Amino acid sequence: MDSPAADLDFHATRALLDWQAELGADEAIGDVPVNRYEVKAEARGPAVTAAPAPLATAEADPVAVAKTAAAEAVTLETLAEIQSAYDLCDLKKGARNFVFADGNPEARVMIIGEAPGREEDLEGRPFVGRAGQLLDRMFAAIGLARTAHHRDEALYITNVMPWRPPQNREPAPAEIAMMLPFLARHVDFVNPDLIVLMGNTPCAAALGQRGILRLRGAWTQAFGRPAMPMAHPAYLLRNPAAKREAWADLLEVRARLKEMP
Ligand code: URA
Repeated sequence: MDSPAADLDFHATRALLDWQAELGADEAIGDVPVNRYEVKAEARGPAVTAAPAPLATAEADPVAVAKTAAAEAVTLETLAEIQSAYDLCDLKKGARNFVFADGNPEARVMIIGEAPGREEDLEGRPFVGRAGQLLDRMFAAIGLARTAHHRDEALYITNVMPWRPPQNREPAPAEIAMMLPFLARHVDFVNPDLIVLMGNTPCAAALGQRGILRLRGAWTQAFGRPAMPMAHPAYLLRNPAAKREAWADLLEVRARLKEMP
């Protein structure tokens, strides 16, 4: 028979353990009782002075590890392999899939979103849920699609985070920081003419700024190229009145593509 614990995922298990620690539990209890008064035979021998254990092992700096790993990538494919093997981001443990990108890597426009949601985590592709369907419709309105073969009509789509955060919470600054070296390399390989930053998380990652409703609509620079911050399609689903401004931002993108050689 399956125990109820078999249904718990990484994050639920961790929350339970944190809760127990808060209640004061400071050691794991086994299935079998332990007699702590029993003196083991080997312990009765002459006392040996053990060498003092090191107080703490030096922990790897996750951002430094990410930078070294990302620098080793020589193609988009090797970048995906290297990033998916990166083990210092806890989100990986709770995610079903590694969500790298979708669309045409030759595209002139690269969209950077926040993180996979439920559908994206299940399917392993970015922006396939309701927000993604709206995103497809928005860009279709200016003649761009992730399925297009010609780079002038194509889109390439990725996220700051390749793993779904629990309950779709916003990625933490430390999580964003450890994915940034991979994202920068990702942009280098795709080499788009311009970038669309969809929402707060990509603005935090690429610009070091939040406040998408203030940033949107004004051209800026991200990863050394023109970038347009836009409201996230999930926000537009909740606030349909904001679609009007999103349309103005899309027209800006179209105009900029036309004027670039
Ligand atoms: N929201 C995002 O930012 N990215 C996705 O892939 C899906 C929803």
